[in-house]
Order: sequence, then structure tokens, then C-alpha cells
Amino acid sequence: MAKKSRKEEIITFNYPDDVVLAVNDLKIYFELKKFGFGNAGYVKAVDGVSFDLHKQEAIAIVGESGCGKTTLMKSILGLYEPREGKIIYKNEDINKHDRVTKRWYHSQVGYVQQDPFGAIAPFLSVRRILEEPLICNGIKEPGELDTRIRKVMEEVSLTPVDDFINKYPHMLSGGQQQRIVIARAMILQQKMMVADEPVSMLDASVRVEVLKLLEGLMLNHGLSVIYITHDLSTVRYFSERIFVMYAGRLVEKAKVNDLIFNHKHPYTEALLAATSEPDAANAKIYKEIPEGEPPSLLHPPPGCRYHPRCPKMIDGLCNVDNPPEFEVGPDHLVSCWLYKDDIKD
Ligand SMILES: Nc1ncnc2c1ncn2[C@@H]1O[C@H](COP(=O)(O)OP(=O)(O)OP(=O)(O)O)[C@@H](O)[C@H]1O
Ligand code: SF4
Ligand SMILES: [Mg+2]
Repeated sequence: MAKKSRKEEIITFNYPDDVVLAVNDLKIYFELKKFGFGNAGYVKAVDGVSFDLHKQEAIAIVGESGCGKTTLMKSILGLYEPREGKIIYKNEDINKHDRVTKRWYHSQVGYVQQDPFGAIAPFLSVRRILEEPLICNGIKEPGELDTRIRKVMEEVSLTPVDDFINKYPHMLSGGQQQRIVIARAMILQQKMMVADEPVSMLDASVRVEVLKLLEGLMLNHGLSVIYITHDLSTVRYFSERIFVMYAGRLVEKAKVNDLIFNHKHPYTEALLAATSEPDAANAKIYKEIPEGEPPSLLHPPPGCRYHPRCPKMIDGLCNVDNPPEFEVGPDHLVSCWLYKDDIKD
């Protein structure tokens, strides 16, 4: 990365107090190497993403496989350096800081990933898994460790605690393992949680239980949550706004009801059609799903990235210029040229 200038170092951010996280024109590119060394291009996995997350708000980011959801999530966790743009948490640039501030940031943000078994060390007991983050953050007194572990296990309904605390991950079901992952993501009394497809690897029978658990924890602890999924049918459990991602960009942002019942972007329409129940009444909607694959992020199409699949594409505009965000209603933004006349002053 280019060395930052002194001027850049002293920038301060003044987001309102209720903005927990601000993602600002974020770009994350992966460099591809030819024969291990020469540059063979960049995978533009996240390409100009901006949004704010408010205190105690849950947002869902939805989109097809490969659209950049996990890359966005990992960059929010501080695992990828932005090529451009910023991620600001409580007015601090998370990519600009010393180890102390990074540690503080990591103690504020919990992470629940898709595969619970892969997320926890198989050779550690539940007690050891849950005490590790506490010890790393300076809590070492055995009585306090025990109290905090038991409390969080009760919160995620791993009870009676004594039946689980000395077990190893392989002795637990998928749903129980995911409860351990959620407990670990909360044990430091984190303020924000990033959940990347937290129920997609669980049996259908436990998915709703785990989503309801997350909803309860969010309400009880005033957590801000980013919930990432490719399955729109699960977002209604606790998200207030939904952002639709396509090929590295957010193409529509709206409150849940607006997005479900008054969506504007042709891709959102296709995504919702693909989510519908497969019954006869929806047969017509199914026909509207556009043909084709998501584009390569190594050589994305010019203009609107959805244009090769879009039934409403305007030749000479959509295939040339990338649409900016148009405000089509309160808290409702859409990146699509069809709404260029809706722009507000
Ligand atoms: N470390 C990496 N190096 C190179 N390319 C990567 C890397 N990580 C992700 N990609 C590419 O970036 C794009 C976005 O991947 P990402 O995993 O973020 O998508 P996703 O939306 O999470 O998909 P899924 O729903 O399948 O989990 C893909 O084309 C992927 O191949
Ligand atoms: S900008 Fe054009 S191609 Fe893109 S979604 Fe809108 S109408 Fe379709
Ligand atoms: Mg992913």
C-alpha cells in the first residue's frame, strides 16, 4: 500500500454518535499472479461499497455466490487492507492503527462464520474455547472466568451448563456448535456482530432457532449486526434494512418491507423471484429469472455490471456508464439508470 501522508494521518471523523460503522467507497482487489510473480490482473471482489450501520441496528447483505459478501465481511473484520476507501468504527479508521487499537477493535466485534465446526478448535473443550478470548483480553482470575463462561452459555441456551462445559466440539450437534461460536462472539460483551451465513450449514429444523437466538441477543445486548446471506427468506427474522450486492457492488439499499414489496432494481426482482416458494402460484414469477451467470470479477462488464443479464438494459447507457445511487424514497437507494429522473435535490 502507498505510504500515507502526514495530512492523511491526522484526519478525524465526525460521524453522528448513532453511527457505529461507516464503510466509505471501499475497494478490495485481489491481485492475480502469472506463474507466481507477474501481475495477471485484479479480482475486484468489492468495488466501491458504502453504507452506515447504526447503533442496535441489524442489516442484511444478500447476493449470489461469489458477489463479494465474505470479502466485504472480512475487510470489516480488518483482515484485508482496502485498496481504496475507509472503514470507520466509532470514528476510528480500523486500518490505520497500532496494535492496541486493533486489539480494542477486535474486542468490540464478534464474528460468527458459516461452518461452526471449522470455526472452533476440535481439541479444545467448550470451557477452553470460551475462556481463550477472555484470557487474551486480560481476564485471568479463575472465578471470574467461570462466571462469565457460564453466563454466556446460559444466554445461548447451552443448558444445563454442566452437561456441555467439558465437552469437545465433535460431541455436539451442528446447532450446538454454532451456539458455542455465537457465545464466543459475545463473551467480551462485543458491540457489533458480523454473521456470515450463520445458518446455511445447519439442518433446516435448527435454522429458525439459531436466527431467533441471534435476534434475542441483539435486542438484549443492543448489538449492531451485519448479517450476510444468499438466502433472502431468512432476513426477515431480525434485519431492519437489506442491501443487495451484485458483482462487488451494492445495487439496492432499503428497509425490509420496501425491499420485499417495493423493490426497484431488476436484480433484486430476480433474486426475490428465485427465493419464492416453489408452488404453482409462483410459476409465472419463476419465468422472470434472467438467464446467465454472474460476471467474472477479473474482467467485469463495463457500465452496470448487471447489464448482460438485464431484461431492461438501455443500450448506450447501461453498457457504458456505471449508474450512481438514486434516492427513490426515504432510506431507499438504487443503482440503476431506470431511476435517473427520480434523483432528489
Ligand atoms: N483470497 C482471494 N484471492 C483471490 N480471489 C479471491 C479471494 N477471496 C475471494 N476471492 C474472489 O473474490 C470473489 C468474491 O468472493 P467472496 O468469497 O467474497 O464471495 P461470496 O459472496 O462470499 O460468495 P459465497 O456466497 O459463495 O460465500 C470471488 O470471485 C472469489 O473467487
Ligand atoms: S442500470 Fe440498466 S442494465 Fe443495470 S439494472 Fe438498471 S436497467 Fe438494468
Ligand atoms: Mg461467502
